Amino acid sequence: MSKIEKYKNQIIQGDCLELFKEIPDNSVDMTFADPPFNLKKKYTSYTDSLEFQEYLNWCEQWISEMVRVTKPTGSIFLHNMPKWLTYYATFLNKFAHFKHWISWDAPTAPMGKSLQPAHYGILFYRKKEKGTKIYELRHPHKRDRKQGFLLKDYGGKKDKLHPFGPLVSDVWTDIHRIKHNKKRDLHPCQLPIHLLDRLILLSTDEGDTVLDPFSGTGTTAISAKRLGRNYIGFELDREYVEISRKKLEAVEPNFKLGESWVSFYLNEIITIRDADWEKLKKYFIIPKPIKLIEFEKIKLIDKDLIPKEKEIIYEANNLCKVKMSKSNSNKITSINKQTDKISLTKEKIVI
Ligand SMILES: C[S@@+](CC[C@H](N)C(=O)[O-])C[C@H]1O[C@@H](n2cnc3c(N)ncnc32)[C@H](O)[C@@H]1O
Repeated sequence: MSKIEKYKNQIIQGDCLELFKEIPDNSVDMTFADPPFNLKKKYTSYTDSLEFQEYLNWCEQWISEMVRVTKPTGSIFLHNMPKWLTYYATFLNKFAHFKHWISWDAPTAPMGKSLQPAHYGILFYRKKEKGTKIYELRHPHKRDRKQGFLLKDYGGKKDKLHPFGPLVSDVWTDIHRIKHNKKRDLHPCQLPIHLLDRLILLSTDEGDTVLDPFSGTGTTAISAKRLGRNYIGFELDREYVEISRKKLEAVEPNFKLGESWVSFYLNEIITIRDADWEKLKKYFIIPKPIKLIEFEKIKLIDKDLIPKEKEIIYEANNLCKVKMSKSNSNKITSINKQTDKISLTKEKIVI
């Protein structure tokens, strides 16, 4: 077994700089990092307030490791606030290749000041200038929430619109932060999984390996697993590791429509690969003539094509509750963290 194989599909507890030493050069297809932003956030095992230069020196160490372990065909993604990304980019420009600065529009609650941060950045670098795996992606047309009409005016070009939606640009406005506490783990800055779905569909294939050195409660790993990829996650905090492992047990590689991997969110598909459209279109009812797309959305031919997701809610009393959606919704699986036993009861879930 090659050295990388024994780390695949694991969330490993420890300091990422130590754990990186175990990972061979050029061995993973994509690296993604969402580090602590040095904002004094309340993590369980990490003090999020280093001196300015101390923070940057530390970042440069793990960024170098990300580049080292990424394959020559692979991509490197760094998520942070624009302030820190300017330093990351200056550093990375020396030994990787800039591809895009993705702006993720993720507004926070109004704080009563102008120019309040309303977007995060995701730096997208290639390890080598040529030969990187990158796929074209599409997302659904943006529509008025009340009437469902297209927001953008395509003028006389409506009959040339793509039935699913436009190509994804470098500004992402359709992915919201996790707002509801019931969807969130005991983690101060968990990312939405479909943000990672989009990056993984952009840069990897089925069976590829994705590594996240700041795994938190396992967002990247869950996305990778449900999209048929392998994952490696590093995380300092034991409790976050435990939550991730429990959540991952409930995830299946089922984010698929026919043969194509897609990202589902709230009963819709929100990212597809452009190249998959020919195989995917048979699963949709498409308005005819196509210019009617201005008023009507395409719809899945059958709602049962949407995978049944199990939603895990971590509770402070040492239980992880697994909510099974749809037909299985009258069962709760309780996992006792002390005994690690899983029991299935027939209680009804009150959501
Ligand atoms: C911004 S959070 C990542 C959240 C993650 N993307 C998610 O969606 O759950 C950063 C994480 O890095 C972890 N961390 C901090 N220092 C670390 C280190 N040296 N090695 C590994 N993990 C570390 C923190 O415990 C925290 O969970």
